[in-house]
Amino acid sequence: MILYFLLSLLVGFIVYLTWRTYTYWEDKGIPYDKPHLPFGSLESLAKQERSFGMAIYDLYEKYQTRFVGIYLCFRPAILIRDAQLCKDILTKDFASFHDRGVYVDEKNDPFSANLFTCEGQNWKSLRNKLTPSFSSGKLKLMFPIILETSKKMKTYLLDNLQDKNHIFDIKDINNRYAIDIVASVIFGVEVDSFKDPDNMFRQATININSKSIIGNIRAASSFLCPGLAKLFTTLRIPDKMTNFIKKMVKDVVEYREKNNYVRKDLMQMLIQLRNSGTINADDNNWAVQNVPENLKSMSLDKISGQGFIFFVAGFDTTSSLASFCIYELAQNPDIMQEVVKEIDEVLKNYNGEITYEAISDMKFLEKCVMETLRKFPFPLLNRMCTVDYKVPESSFTIKKGTPIIISIMGLHRDPEYFPDPLKFDPNRDLNTPAYMPFGDGPRNCIAYRLGKVSAKVSIVTMLSQFKIECIEKKEIEIDNHSVPLVPKGGVNVRFSRKGS
Ligand code: HEM
Repeated sequence: MILYFLLSLLVGFIVYLTWRTYTYWEDKGIPYDKPHLPFGSLESLAKQERSFGMAIYDLYEKYQTRFVGIYLCFRPAILIRDAQLCKDILTKDFASFHDRGVYVDEKNDPFSANLFTCEGQNWKSLRNKLTPSFSSGKLKLMFPIILETSKKMKTYLLDNLQDKNHIFDIKDINNRYAIDIVASVIFGVEVDSFKDPDNMFRQATININSKSIIGNIRAASSFLCPGLAKLFTTLRIPDKMTNFIKKMVKDVVEYREKNNYVRKDLMQMLIQLRNSGTINADDNNWAVQNVPENLKSMSLDKISGQGFIFFVAGFDTTSSLASFCIYELAQNPDIMQEVVKEIDEVLKNYNGEITYEAISDMKFLEKCVMETLRKFPFPLLNRMCTVDYKVPESSFTIKKGTPIIISIMGLHRDPEYFPDPLKFDPNRDLNTPAYMPFGDGPRNCIAYRLGKVSAKVSIVTMLSQFKIECIEKKEIEIDNHSVPLVPKGGVNVRFSRKGS
């Protein structure tokens, strides 16, 4: 009897909590998305019909107001739809929105405390220290690593181009290319995913973008329920992966510190930071003054965490950019012709060599890349409101602790900002607050130059060597898993040798 009583009390309490949560936005009197138990506004994600990014895009499309209350399962959040308001939140009013509000537990899980997840002063200080690592001067010095990888990719394409015409999944090829660059530039480890596709880095990326239900839950849970990720280790990055990264970083760091070995890569800068507390802004000074363990400013776990986030944030974004760009060019032969003409002419000025300067001279390629990022961006941004914020030109105040979601995909495909949004038009005016492929404000992408240059080198390598055509006139279909845009069935195009 008592058990029944307690049980009905518990059920009553849960029903009350659910009702309170799901009336949060109604009570605030703002437009809101009617929630469905238990996934709130994300039923299509739970049913595996849409990826997280696309489920948020659907919400953007469904409404017309400047902002709308949504439910990330049981978490009330605000989806901002107005481009200027998005920009204000990311830039001018950053002081009220400096955190992402995703899972981080510096004390018990230092590996989780990376640049993407860190909050407040910790983030600010880390960002200041890491910023010199991605200057254009440093990038220039890393360029030979990118070029070397592009040569491996070219050899792979030539070796596998058996027939006159061959269909390649360029997403798979660009994944291998980007993994090798990021492994080399960030961890200082040379891998060849073209010759050894089963290497641990590639395995790790397959796990990250896995189609499994747990993979999907893991990808979204950091946004949906960061508190739960603190409690349930299954929602965090799998141990197999973190142990692999930690062991590799430990080996690389210890070897370099012991032998005074210098390599011009990001790991070298992290070692500088660990030993001296700063990264040398002088592009020619990569040396490290080794200090005893108790004087080091960063633990090996924390260094591993930074390396890991650069790897995760860098490989798919770079490979998607190169692949989607080639796909759109193949779909639009006139634009393809113009960009190939430019590549051929510029390379002639550099004796056929792909150099950092040659890439910078390709102005039309730059437009094609920026238009690709408009049509196929990283789909969403998130922030946490850290100080109550009165929305300009409205009587509504966003309360401290409310998650903020911005659908970059929604803004970039909104005909109000970009007329005929599915049209790939490199000459389109992108100078609007709605365009934010690398986010915006102090917390924008720290390594966008590296991502862009690497993608451009891949595109130039492919287009200078091969004729690339589409198989059929068709929009890319976005798959139903993962956070970034995953093309369903890959990105397939037809390759043939030039002149054949
Ligand atoms: C074309 C390629 C890339 C695109 C489209 C891209 C896009 C983005 C976006 C949209 C954000 C969120 C910005 C915000 O919240 O305002 C971001 C953040 C970030 N990206 Fe990238 N990214 C690219 C390449 C890279 C690469 C190559 C790396 C590292 C090697 C990287 C590392 C990061 C990191 C660490 C952050 C978090 C910054 C912070 O919170 O301070 N990204 N990126």
